[in-house]
Amino acid sequence: MNLTTDLRLQGIYIDASLQSLSDFLHQRQAQYSKFYILVDEHTHELCIPLLLSRVRALQSSEIIEMGAGEEYKSLQTATQIWETLIENFADRKTLILNLGGGVVTDLGGLVASLFKRGIDFVHIPTTLLGMIDAAIGGKTAVNVGGAKNMIGTFNPPQGVFISVDFLSTLNRRDLYSGFGELIKYGLIASKDLWQSIEKHELNENMELEWMIEECALIKSSIVSEDFYEKGKRKWLNFGHTAGHALEAFAMHGHIRTLMHGEAVALGMIIELQLSVQLLHFDPQCQQRIQHFILDNFDLYPIENKDFAKLIQWMKMDKKNQDSQVNFVLLSEVGVAHYDQKVEDQQILHALQYYASL
Ligand SMILES: NC(=O)c1ccc[n+]([C@@H]2O[C@H](COP(=O)([O-])OP(=O)(O)OC[C@H]3O[C@@H](n4cnc5c(N)ncnc54)[C@H](O)[C@@H]3O)[C@@H](O)[C@H]2O)c1
Repeated sequence: MNLTTDLRLQGIYIDASLQSLSDFLHQRQAQYSKFYILVDEHTHELCIPLLLSRVRALQSSEIIEMGAGEEYKSLQTATQIWETLIENFADRKTLILNLGGGVVTDLGGLVASLFKRGIDFVHIPTTLLGMIDAAIGGKTAVNVGGAKNMIGTFNPPQGVFISVDFLSTLNRRDLYSGFGELIKYGLIASKDLWQSIEKHELNENMELEWMIEECALIKSSIVSEDFYEKGKRKWLNFGHTAGHALEAFAMHGHIRTLMHGEAVALGMIIELQLSVQLLHFDPQCQQRIQHFILDNFDLYPIENKDFAKLIQWMKMDKKNQDSQVNFVLLSEVGVAHYDQKVEDQQILHALQYYASL
């Protein structure tokens, strides 16, 4: 893939000091009447001090706090925020700054997209998953009735400002959830990124800034060619069809829940096996990747009796057509293929393989 897209032209700034955000606010000061910073309870405590100490223009902003976690990514939370904005006479020149992980940026993006038919917003992602994925690409959403991302818009922010310094307070599990997506980017689009990840122990001291930049380039380049996910944007779903099924399975089970990126990492084991079965992906390479994933993520156990349920969840994926499951599969590292229709029998083989690990 040609990664020539200039991140800054796409409004994505990777800069630990957040000087780019100060410059952005300075350049546009006449354009905005007021700044509202949306946080969750954790980013309020852990990220606001760093943000305000680096971006002086934000010191007199209003802060709106929501609950932390996926259960708050709801229309109810959005409505509460709209009510707060209305009580404070927020006008169409208001700028919303979403400071948080994917939950805050997805919800804050939706709130801004619909408030008074749309006001400007920027994202300041504070989780690894947010920096490499959720904050980039202009998808906003809330969950409805337990179903994920059912109501949302495609609407890009005015800017995405990424400072790796926010990651210092992130707990290990949330960091690893981001690593699941990081591995995915290497496998779908960049052999160099994968080889570099493979050489490292996953932790906050690895070359994260470079890797975040690489992922942001990959995602923004794909999104710039296929904003509405009609074609190659689907590549980004590698690991997700099986991963979402494992995530739903874990949510209804009793062993433990799986975070999104953990489920994607395990989902990639199943989808790599399908890639070997259907697209002749090199089995030796598959084994190397699989070992790396299993060295870093705990396997979520499944048994024969669970297979039918898992396939049923895969069929519910909104990317399917008819009753066959559509996967993204790889023919080699860095070469992904979307809309790969797979028969139940072949999925069953891949699940048996995973269960035997
Ligand atoms: N829009 C998209 O394209 C897209 C892509 C991928 C994922 N998503 C969405 O992203 C969400 C998951 O995002 P996430 O993994 O960032 O979860 P999250 O936003 O729930 O954050 C995880 C936890 O980390 C805390 N946190 C955030 N930043 C912190 C920091 N710097 N220090 C300490 N704690 C911090 C949060 O309060 C939360 O408890 C899902 O809702 C998913 O649907 C959206």
